[in-house]
Amino acid sequence: MRVTISEIKAMKQRKEKIPMLTAYDYVTAKIIDEAGVPLILVGDSLGMVMLGYESTIPVTMDDMIHHIKAVVRGANKALIVGDMPFMTYHTSVADALHNAGRLIQEGGAQAVKLEGGEVIAEVVKRLVDCGIPVMGHMGLTPQSMYQLSGFKVQGKTPETARKLFKDAQILEQAGAFSIVLECVPAPLSKLITETVSIPIIGIGAGPDCDGQVQVSSDMLGLYCDLVLKHAKQYARLADSIKTAVTDYVTEVKSSSFPTMKQSYTMDESLLESLQR
Ligand code: KIV
Repeated sequence: MRVTISEIKAMKQRKEKIPMLTAYDYVTAKIIDEAGVPLILVGDSLGMVMLGYESTIPVTMDDMIHHIKAVVRGANKALIVGDMPFMTYHTSVADALHNAGRLIQEGGAQAVKLEGGEVIAEVVKRLVDCGIPVMGHMGLTPQSMYQLSGFKVQGKTPETARKLFKDAQILEQAGAFSIVLECVPAPLSKLITETVSIPIIGIGAGPDCDGQVQVSSDMLGLYCDLVLKHAKQYARLADSIKTAVTDYVTEVKSSSFPTMKQSYTMDESLLESLQR
């Protein structure tokens, strides 16, 4: 049985911390799922860490559906949240419903994530009313990187802090089951976490959130183009892969790979008959 929305909400009530990771492909999703992560995000960060774009903005609905399908096939326990790409939920409530419906129906995600606060409240309410669970995303919202003038900590001025505090309550009232809070000062995240009843999942938002999310390629040391302060490397897979590939190249060039151990044999007499 998959983890449900009620189980994620109950974890907050029990004060049990919620670990969340991103995944974009079958193999990684399977490993993350087997390791016991209850919440997997197919984030539009895939644009940067999988597709090599400079931001999340070029990511399309088709990109998201393609990757969500692979993650759903790999992870059969975790609840899977799919990111709504840039401009797929702002043009109208009807567009948002249509696109969120595709992530659930075609992709197989169990929930969707949208960036923004009050500005998306109406959309969140309609999606939830139509049976689509919604996770909010506030603070540093990468889809607004041009408006925010880059990837910067949010909520450091009285106005922006007040807005984040208010927006979290608005999203809760609109029916979001959880909110990601990205790059927000730890004391403000703590206040928001204590004020709303839905789980707050932090990334660069301090230790007091109900849960934490990391981009898997960052925490595994796989994506090194942009090393962020809030990303902790639990492994250095890029280094391990580079060493393995270098060894492979050396062995192929020196004819020490493959040996008979990695080769197949056949009946010698058959070979002889071919040469007669
Ligand atoms: O796209 C993503 O990976 C995200 C996380 C950073 C929360 O939105």
